[in-house]
Amino acid sequence: MSAESAASQSSARTRITSVPRFVAAKRKNRKLAMLTAYDFLWASLLDAAEIDAILVGDSLGMVIQGKETTLPVTLDEIIYHAEMVCRAVKQALVVVDMPFMSYQLGVEQAVANAGRIIKETGAAAVKLEGGVNQAQTIQALSDIDIPVMAHIGMKPQSVRKLGGFGRVQRDEHQLMQDAQAAQDAGAFGIVLELIPCEIARTVTTALDIPTIGIGAGPHCDGQVLVGPDMLGLSDGFHPKFLKQFANLREDALQAVRQYCQEVQTGSFPDEAHSHSS
Ligand code: KIV
Repeated sequence: MSAESAASQSSARTRITSVPRFVAAKRKNRKLAMLTAYDFLWASLLDAAEIDAILVGDSLGMVIQGKETTLPVTLDEIIYHAEMVCRAVKQALVVVDMPFMSYQLGVEQAVANAGRIIKETGAAAVKLEGGVNQAQTIQALSDIDIPVMAHIGMKPQSVRKLGGFGRVQRDEHQLMQDAQAAQDAGAFGIVLELIPCEIARTVTTALDIPTIGIGAGPHCDGQVLVGPDMLGLSDGFHPKFLKQFANLREDALQAVRQYCQEVQTGSFPDEAHSHSS
């Protein structure tokens, strides 16, 4: 398909501007495209490309802050980034991750902190990691009309228990229970991270709410990737599930090297890039 016909086809699709539209997409067999963004510049680019949903992920800690895990990300930091993202976005659904230890203390803490995220950023929804173990919290947030996306399978906030990232989660019974518990508690969507594609298919068929896969194969109702990873901006991260749709790091490196060379040799700025009196 040419870029032009892809563009015209995508503009004929209904934009996913709200949680009800996100949920309805599943009934219409309309696949959902989601990417992470962490600031105004990238969020405006994703929105202009007609992305369905943007996740202000706590991958912020690793991708933007250069930390080894997502665990250190604070509530204030995610709010700071989410506010910039929401300011840029005109259409896409913005979902914000609840950082580690911003909801694990219990329902009261989760309600207060999810409330801050919604109130201070303008986002449509929050995401938290868990299924059965977070059902009460998902229920409490849904009861006060804060839409919640759940996240099961490989949960990056459990990295200390797992002993590392990247291990595929294969316990079908547990995954089904977690997915069902999240839906029953009122979640409007659920991320399935690093699970075998046959299990993702079973979970997707069993649920009424959309499943959003990352490393969970083609049968989910939608997909999410970390924006800078799929654009080829991140350095040295090549898991099997990641398709690189561009090589921006190489392009940027080349541009910066050329700039340095032109400044150092005096060929930039030239007359064409200078004002005369
Ligand atoms: O934090 C994040 O970016 C995420 C996605 C990878 C699903 O949770």
